[in-house]
Amino acid sequence: MIARPGAPLVGAARGPGDKSISHRALILGALARGVTEIDGLLEGDDVKRTALAMRAFGADVDRLDAGHWRVRGRGRLAAPDQVIDCGNAGTGARLILGAAAGFPLTATLTGDASLRGRPMARVLEPLGEMGARWVCRDGGRLPLSLRGGALTAVTWRQRQPSAQVKSAVLLAGLNATGETQVIEPAPSRDHTERLLRDFGAEVDVQDVPAGRVITLRGGQALAGARIHVPSDPSSAAFPLVAALIVPGSQVTMEDVLLNPLRTGLFETLREMGADLTIDHVRQDGGESVGDVTARYSQLNGVTVPATRAASMIDEYPILAVAAAFARGPTVMRGIGELRVKESDRIAMMSAALMASGVTVEEEAEGLIVVGASEANHRVAGGAEVQTHGDHRVAMSCLVLGLGAQEGVTVDEASMIATSFPGFAALMAGLGADVGEA
Ligand code: S3P
Repeated sequence: MIARPGAPLVGAARGPGDKSISHRALILGALARGVTEIDGLLEGDDVKRTALAMRAFGADVDRLDAGHWRVRGRGRLAAPDQVIDCGNAGTGARLILGAAAGFPLTATLTGDASLRGRPMARVLEPLGEMGARWVCRDGGRLPLSLRGGALTAVTWRQRQPSAQVKSAVLLAGLNATGETQVIEPAPSRDHTERLLRDFGAEVDVQDVPAGRVITLRGGQALAGARIHVPSDPSSAAFPLVAALIVPGSQVTMEDVLLNPLRTGLFETLREMGADLTIDHVRQDGGESVGDVTARYSQLNGVTVPATRAASMIDEYPILAVAAAFARGPTVMRGIGELRVKESDRIAMMSAALMASGVTVEEEAEGLIVVGASEANHRVAGGAEVQTHGDHRVAMSCLVLGLGAQEGVTVDEASMIATSFPGFAALMAGLGADVGEA
C-alpha cells in the first residue's frame, strides 16, 4: 500500500471500537452467567479471534449486526477441543490465559509468527504462583498448553505497569481462593476493573504513594451485562496526526474514548503546539467519550515524560511521525516495552524514518526524532518500509507518506485489519491519497 502527499484531509469520521474493551467484553461475557450484549465491538481480526476462542471455551457467541454481538456465558469456561489461535493478539492471548487458568481444564494456545515470538512469561509467572501449570516453547513462547484450576490468590507486584498482566492476574483471581491483589508502580489502563464492576463484581482500587493497588475477592459470580464500546483513541490517533501534518487539514474523530489512562498522546501533541480540541464530552457506559478535532499545526519537539508511557504505549510510532514534522528534537524515553510489541517498534520506526530522510537516534529504551522543520526543510519520504506484520507501524508509515514530499510504501497492509478494519477507506473518505502500491 502507498500513501502519497496531496489534498488536505477534511471531514468527520468514527473510527473502530476500542480494542482493549472489545477483548475484555467478550471474555467477561463468556465468564459471566447469562446474556451479554455488546455494541460498537471492534470487528478486527484480533477481536474476532477472541470471539472464536470464547466459543471454543463453551460460550455462545453470535454476531447480530455490525458491531452488535451477543455472548451467552455459562458462568465458567469449559475445556476447548481444539487449539486456540489468537492470531496477532497479545492482549487476547494473555487475557485468555488468565481467564482459563481459573478452571480445571487444559487449553492449548498459539498465534501468528509475531505472537509466537512474544514473551508470555510475564503472565505465566503470576499464574504459576497461583497454581497454574503449563508446557511451552523455550523463553515462555507460544504454542503453549495450560493446565488450570485450584488456584490460590496472590499479591502480585508489577515491576512495570502492564494492563495485560494485571488483567490476566485479576481474571485468574476471579476463580482463586482468597483475595488477589495487583500492585502497579503506576496505573495502567483500567478497563478490566471497570468492566468487572459492570458485570457485577466488587473490585477495590486504591492509589497509594507506591502506585495503585487493585484487590479482587475470589469466587465472585459475574452476571451478563450490556456493554457499549466507544471508539479507540489508539486508532483515532492516525487520522488526527495526519491532519496535524498535512497543511490545510481539519479532521474530527467522533465518540473517542477519553479514559485518562489512554490519552497521553493527546496531552503530548498539545504540548507540541497541536491545535487539538475536544468537544461534546459525555459519559457513555461508565467511560468519558468526546469528539476530537485536529487542525494542521506547526509542531515543536518535546521531551515526553517517561511516566506518561503507560497512557500512550501504543501511540509512540505515530508520535514519532508527528515528531518528524516538528521543530527540534522529540525525546521519547522509558519505552523499552516497544521492543516486544507486535514488532520491535523502536527499530521499525527508526528505520522507516531514516529511510524517509529524518534524523533519528535509537537508544536501548528510547527514541529521539529530530524534526525536519528545524533545518527548514520538509520530510523527504519515499521510503519502502518493511513492516514485519505490525499494524501500527504500517499505519504510522502511511500517515508519514501523506505529509512527506514523496509517498511512503509499506510492504504489507493486510494486518491493519487486526485493529483498524477500513483504515484505507476512512482515510480516503477524508481526502487522503492512500491505495494499492
Ligand atoms: C493492552 C495493554 C498494553 C497495550 C496493548 C493493549 C490491553 O500492553 O500495548 O495494545 O488491552 O491491556 P501491555 O499490558 O503489555 O502494556
